[in-house]
Amino acid sequence: MVTKKVVMDKTHFLIVRDVDYAFSDGKQILSHVTFSLPQGAFVALVGQSGVGKSTLLRIVSGLLRPFRGEVLLNGRSPHEADPSIGLVFQHDNLLPWRTAYGNVRLPLELRGENGLQAHERVQAMLKLVGLEGYADSYPAQLSGGMAQRVALARALVHQPSLLLLDEPFGALDALTRERMGRELLRIWQAHPVTVLMVTHSITEAVLLADEVLVMNGRPATITHRIPVPLTRPREENVEQTAVFQECVTAVRSAIQIS
Ligand SMILES: Nc1ncnc2c1ncn2[C@@H]1O[C@H](COP(=O)(O)OP(=O)(O)OP(=O)(O)O)[C@@H](O)[C@H]1O
Ligand SMILES: [Mg+2]
Repeated sequence: MVTKKVVMDKTHFLIVRDVDYAFSDGKQILSHVTFSLPQGAFVALVGQSGVGKSTLLRIVSGLLRPFRGEVLLNGRSPHEADPSIGLVFQHDNLLPWRTAYGNVRLPLELRGENGLQAHERVQAMLKLVGLEGYADSYPAQLSGGMAQRVALARALVHQPSLLLLDEPFGALDALTRERMGRELLRIWQAHPVTVLMVTHSITEAVLLADEVLVMNGRPATITHRIPVPLTRPREENVEQTAVFQECVTAVRSAIQIS
């Protein structure tokens, strides 16, 4: 039997190489998209509405196949890497007939994991996102922020090595959104996972990420990679610092508004 040798490369944990994508109507959305992420990084992806951010995230997740080019996660295609990818979308997509516990448990059930270990993992995830007291609540009984935390717990329960977030806090009010951002940082620090997060908020991108990728063009590509040289953990008043403001300005001017 021939076994494929997987090369562990921590500095190029996720590789997106020369990816092109067109929908079936023939309109090309992505052209020569190339970037890589080191293991454990928290990277934000920004760009104007309709540029192709969600399309790129779906390609990275393996939900869409690139027309050309390749995606490698730890040396394997996203399909082979599955289920080590967790996904959270703008709307929580929770099953309304399942409790918070039942929703978080679903990915484990789908993989046939039903024992005590699975139960303990679900409990641990609910605790991690601060919802241990809400295991029996249904999505309709939760606030928007709480529902997104359940979605986050569900995405993390099978211990993914890559977490893809597409505007996870887009539907939340400004205050909840800010609190969720800090929650996400806490969870990321407690949980060894590489994060690629699409956001419309430049300040959120700079506050959370090690690096901000900027997409531009039609078809789109990554035109800028802006490092965020802020220390971790991010301090309470980091938004008032000159470095933070410089990063925000750099990201804003990199996004070409057409
Ligand atoms: N199923 C589809 N068929 C054809 N075109 C599509 C399809 N889905 C998206 N598009 C087009 O692809 C482009 C990129 O869409 P995408 O959803 O990736 O943008 P986005 O950057 O995520 O935008 P937003 O910030 O508004 O979420 C848009 O022009 C959109 O109209
Ligand atoms: Mg989108």
